[in-house]
Amino acid sequence: MCQDNVKELADNYHHPTAGSLGLSAALRPIAVGPLALIDRILDMSKPRAAMLRSRSKDDFDVLFRIADDLATWEERSAASPAPLTREAFKNRLEQGDADDTGKNVRFVIDVDGAAVGSVSLFDFDELARHAEVGIALVPEARGQGIGSAAISQIVEFAFVRCNLRRVHLQVIESNLGAIRAYEKAGFVVEGRQRQHAWVRGKYEDIVIMGILRPA
Ligand SMILES: CC(C)(COP(=O)(O)OP(=O)(O)OC[C@H]1O[C@@H](n2cnc3c(N)ncnc32)[C@H](O)[C@@H]1OP(=O)(O)O)[C@@H](O)C(=O)NCCC(=O)NCCS
Repeated sequence: MCQDNVKELADNYHHPTAGSLGLSAALRPIAVGPLALIDRILDMSKPRAAMLRSRSKDDFDVLFRIADDLATWEERSAASPAPLTREAFKNRLEQGDADDTGKNVRFVIDVDGAAVGSVSLFDFDELARHAEVGIALVPEARGQGIGSAAISQIVEFAFVRCNLRRVHLQVIESNLGAIRAYEKAGFVVEGRQRQHAWVRGKYEDIVIMGILRPA
């Protein structure tokens, strides 16, 4: 619900300051294919540090896998489920870069030099100082605290670097893991849109969550 919606993808933005963030030490070179590197996070014996960094062309396969994942389509998108070709996805990314308005902030989530997901701020309101957040990880990276860590980092970026006062999101009610991850990052439930989403054969509420910048 909260990631890879059509507008967000079309507005995909490679933020110019991302590489210089204190949030991420640096862009680390990827020695082998990014998909191969994801195998390393399957070793859950060690805690994994999630870093946010800017997107590179090497991340395309991972980002496409996430965007094309029909299993979590309704979790990530308000658009009707449909197969996504690599070409269509590439065009969307390029179109988003070309239409760059500077309004959206999209990071790759990196663990040990491998891209494992993306997290974005979009729909900025410059007057009221708020934006929406969206996140998605590859399946192998889920359930290890990586999502909660990445959400906390982008909220810090929103408050400290973008001077936002509020960050909000939408999540379908059955996505309990996501709701828990958002709560761990400090979001609270602010309301719900009853039976607003059609999710694999039934209606579901959309839960609205938000976090305010501490005074
Ligand atoms: C949502 C997502 C980003 C969360 O990231 P993550 O790294 O998997 O989440 P974390 O491991 O940080 O935290 C998940 C928490 O939810 C809990 N959880 C997982 N499944 C749960 C369930 N069915 N019911 C209740 N809690 C659940 C975990 O135990 C964990 O809490 P804990 O640390 O207190 O034990 C990730 O799972 C994902 O990309 N999912 C697919 C796309 C998606 O749904 N995006 C969000 C759209 S709104």
